Formats: sequence, structure tokens, C-alpha cells
Amino acid sequence: MAVAFVTGGTRGIGLAVVQALVARGDSVVLTGATVESALRAETAVALEAGDATRVMGVGCDVRDRPSVRRAVEAAVQRFGGLDLLVNNAGVGTGAPIEYLDEAEWHRLIDTNLTGVFHCSQAAIPHLKARGGGWIVNVSSLAGKNAFAGGAAYCATKAGLDAFSEALMQEVRHDGIRVAHVCPGSVATGFNDRAPESGAEWKLHAEDVAAVIVHLLSHPPRSLPSRVEIRPARPPRK
Ligand SMILES: NC(=O)c1ccc[n+]([C@@H]2O[C@H](COP(=O)([O-])OP(=O)(O)OC[C@H]3O[C@@H](n4cnc5c(N)ncnc54)[C@H](OP(=O)(O)O)[C@@H]3O)[C@@H](O)[C@H]2O)c1
Repeated sequence: MAVAFVTGGTRGIGLAVVQALVARGDSVVLTGATVESALRAETAVALEAGDATRVMGVGCDVRDRPSVRRAVEAAVQRFGGLDLLVNNAGVGTGAPIEYLDEAEWHRLIDTNLTGVFHCSQAAIPHLKARGGGWIVNVSSLAGKNAFAGGAAYCATKAGLDAFSEALMQEVRHDGIRVAHVCPGSVATGFNDRAPESGAEWKLHAEDVAAVIVHLLSHPPRSLPSRVEIRPARPPRK
């Protein structure tokens, strides 16, 4: 069974990915921005699975390079290696550029883009040591379909798409498969909205997790490197 490292695994899409991986028998290190959120999620996942031996929660702000290094090393120490990195942690904002606070701009770039760089760089040597593995980046359809008020967020996801493509080409000859998954609207608490808002038509976090788990089942010769998933019947515009 695989050893996975899932950033932002405390709630929303990340938590659904953690639950799906644990359910299929993997060992999973989940990270949250704080120790408290990570340990809360660790306890919930372990209780649900009836097994506390295959899940570990670690506080790790992906913007903080040393904290990422420590978390990845802790994962390798605990479970003996690493097979899968899911770069899921992400934040959003809704302000037009004219009024967007500079700190908010940096928070988005540093979390959604630099965080993925930090985690990928820390994980690659461990994936190589296993003869290969997966890096799955959770991007967004917003990277392709930009919208007013979303310039900062859309720019981070467009950047992540390009980062993922380039990284895929860099490491595939080492047996590391890189994919980016681009969801449309998902009913989570993202960007401080109510998770239940639009839940009747939006994707559910479990739908995105199912796509990610399905990716992992592809034979070694196959690499679906970009996957889009969107609500089947959104409200008409
Ligand atoms: N929801 C959507 O409609 C949607 C659509 C397309 C793409 N996405 C993408 O999907 C990913 C997950 O979104 P979600 O909807 O599940 O969001 P969410 O429910 O708000 O969860 C965000 C997760 O990221 C973590 N996080 C935030 N900042 C962090 C940091 N600096 N360091 C480490 N972890 C951090 C949070 O940890 P704490 O609990 O500790 O704060 C939490 O686990 C994001 O990359 C988002 O851009 C979402």
C-alpha cells in the first residue's frame, strides 16, 4: 500500500482525499495550516477508519519552507518512504485588483504556487528513492476560465497549471507521474463560504477525491496529466 502526503487535508477536498486513501489501505500524512487543525482531522479520520496507525496529522504552513521540509521528513520517518504527494492546500479571495490588499496578493501566491514548489521539491528525492510515484496538484478551472474579481486566484491556478506541465516533463523519466486536477465549483467552506451553499448543484469534495484515486489506478504506462471535473448541471446563466 502507498504512503501519501496530502496538504490541506483537514477539511474540504483534502479531507475527502485523505479519507478515500485511508479507506483503500494507504498510510497518509495530512497537513493543516496549524497543529490544532491537523490533529483534529487526524483524530476524526482515525476514528472513522477504526485505525489510528495509518494516519498522521502535521501542522505545516506550506508557505514556510523549513516547516514543509520537517513535515515531509516526519512522514518518511513514520511510514518509511513516500509514494504520493497531493498538493491541495489553497486559499481564495474575491477582491478586484484595484482594491486588493498587497498582503492578500502575497498570501495567495505564496500558498497556491510557492507552497506547491516547496512541497514538490521536498518530496521528489523521496519519490525517486522509491523508483517513482505521483504528484497530484489540485488546480482549478479558474486557471483557464478567469473571471472579474478573481485575478489573483486565477493567476495562481494558471501558474499552477504551467508548473504542473513543466514538472511532469521534468520527472516522468524518473517514474514520477505529475497530474493536475481542475475542479469547477465544489461545495466546501473555501474562501469562508458556507459549505452547504449550492450543494444541490455543485460537485462534492468526494467527487474530486474519486477522480484523484482513480488516477492512481492507471497502469504505469498511462498518465492522464490534466483532468477537468465540473458540475454536470450548474444553474443556467
Ligand atoms: N471549493 C472549490 O470550489 C474549489 C474549486 C476548484 C479548486 N479548488 C481548490 O481545491 C483546493 C482545496 O479547496 P477546498 O475547497 O477544499 O478548500 P477549504 O475547504 O477551504 O480547505 C483548504 C485547506 O487548505 C489548508 N490551508 C490553507 N492555507 C494553508 C497554508 N498556508 N498551509 C497549509 N495548509 C493550508 C486548510 O488548512 P486549515 O484547516 O488548517 O486552515 C484546509 O485544509 C484548493 O487548492 C482550491 O483552490 C477548490
